[in-house]
Amino acid sequence: VPRSALRSTEEAALPSSSTSHAAPITEINRRRNLAIISHPDSGKTTMTEKLLLYGGALQTAGAVRMKGEQRGTKSDFMEMERERGISISSTVMSFDYNSLHVNILDTPGHQDFSEDTYRALAAADNAVMLLDAAKGLEPQTRKLFEVCRMRGLPLFTFVNKMDRPALTPYEIMDQIEAEFGLETFPMLWPIGDGDRAERGTKSQVRQVPMSDLETLKEHINDEELYEKLLEDQEILQELISPLDMDRVMAGQQSPLFFGSAMTNFGVQLFLDKFCAMGSKPSARFATKQEEGKGKKASHDESFDEEGDELVPPEYEEFTGFVFKTQANLDPKHRDRLAYVRIVSGSYQKGMKVGHSRSKMGKKYNLAQAQALFGSDRETVEIAYPGDVIGINNPGNFAIGDTLFTGNNLIAFPGIPSFSPEVFAYIRNPNPSTYKSFQKGIDQLLAEGAVQSLRQRNDDGGGPLILAAVGQLQFEVVQARLKSEYGVDSVLEPINYTLARWADGGWEAVDKADKDGKLFGIMILQDRWKRPVLLFRNDWKAASVTEEEKYLELKPWSK
Ligand code: G4P
Repeated sequence: VPRSALRSTEEAALPSSSTSHAAPITEINRRRNLAIISHPDSGKTTMTEKLLLYGGALQTAGAVRMKGEQRGTKSDFMEMERERGISISSTVMSFDYNSLHVNILDTPGHQDFSEDTYRALAAADNAVMLLDAAKGLEPQTRKLFEVCRMRGLPLFTFVNKMDRPALTPYEIMDQIEAEFGLETFPMLWPIGDGDRAERGTKSQVRQVPMSDLETLKEHINDEELYEKLLEDQEILQELISPLDMDRVMAGQQSPLFFGSAMTNFGVQLFLDKFCAMGSKPSARFATKQEEGKGKKASHDESFDEEGDELVPPEYEEFTGFVFKTQANLDPKHRDRLAYVRIVSGSYQKGMKVGHSRSKMGKKYNLAQAQALFGSDRETVEIAYPGDVIGINNPGNFAIGDTLFTGNNLIAFPGIPSFSPEVFAYIRNPNPSTYKSFQKGIDQLLAEGAVQSLRQRNDDGGGPLILAAVGQLQFEVVQARLKSEYGVDSVLEPINYTLARWADGGWEAVDKADKDGKLFGIMILQDRWKRPVLLFRNDWKAASVTEEEKYLELKPWSK
């Protein structure tokens, strides 16, 4: 059964009794959670800002987007993000809109930060794919789409920058269908594009059904455009299947919007339709054990497992998972936060929770959760399924961990990550800063900013290799070591591009090595001391598996 088919919580077993931890149904039903995925420069920052404006969470657009030095938005808050004008870390912004509570999960657009985006998508219930109308699908949209598909997320599409010359709507629909096998359903239809649109004026929006030809004719003072619209209408009737909400929820049909975030055109319509059509907080699969029975959930082993129980948002206990951790959000306070996506029940200030990787019975006090709004934070008294809270994390919580109340040990499956493609030794050039350097590295690794590898049997004394999806991640590590821990670092790139787990463990690796099959391949160990092989290219990796069938290889991710 596809997970999306089980999205409806009615199908999941509901709790028979309710405790003080159960979330009120009204609060669950009014929550909508949205991640925006896009290729850089498609207008995600602008769109986010406009959504916040419509949601009343921002007062003026100018306060958010500024030129040059001041450029930055509520969602770009770290120094490096501001300098480069890119969004590095995923944050969450919330607002009440009509009777709903909307959480926008910001996702970094730069390809080197796909990892963070991936995690934000693990916390999302819906996504919108933002396209540049002149460019259509771009590399990063392709990659992120795959993640949405794996998660079975309902996916909306917003074609932005329609105030400028654009591809035709058909071209865009064709691209999406041909490349993604995803059918689209236009929720509105553009009449012309930026070639004809008046520039600089704020749009006056009026909704006219396609069937109301008289009103349409009245409003389109251009015979040619009107004729084109009639033609389009005929074509569309042939071309598209009716909107089917079950298929939308399963991520098989994408409601399609056209607009211009910059000129506000179509943004509110999108928000309204998203609120009406988007999925409320979904049930999640987890493994569940009663107290005292079985072992504690293991972080790494349960990694790819889906879990066998569905935890609906109405489940009587609080459950949630950590999808991101971050240190030093506020340079003045040197704190660390774990971002928790609440799956079921309600968070109440001061509540005690169990932890999937700790012994049953051990409780952590969630004294002070925070709501996050870019760099601004406020203390949260209560939060519900679909919400994200930031909790203080002195080092106990890692990405993928589950927190829960009640007597059942709940563990949501871990959050898979991309396999790294760049590798480098990192060294401390200044022995007198040994302690700070070590602390910085440890914290950044715990945060998942990059991953680490060491030589076999090295318990920490030997050279440290960092692994990342993109070069920029290394630069962030170096910049943060400097600004947050006051230490310099030296990177020495290693010329390998592929990391693979050896399925048969050390035994298989040793055998292949002894037979001389691993020439030119770097053999390392990961945090759990499992063998990880680095290859220079795909071909080299393929030659080890195909020719000799010595080793089964799997992408190494964490
Ligand atoms: P991103 O977060 O996806 O990278 O995109 P961002 O919002 O930063 O937008 C990228 C550029 O596209 C910006 O221009 C922005 O003003 C422009 N843009 C966004 N939405 C629209 C739209 O609907 N129509 C048009 N024509 N442009 C749009 P910039 O010149 O890079 O920055 P700025 O000088 O405007 O700040």
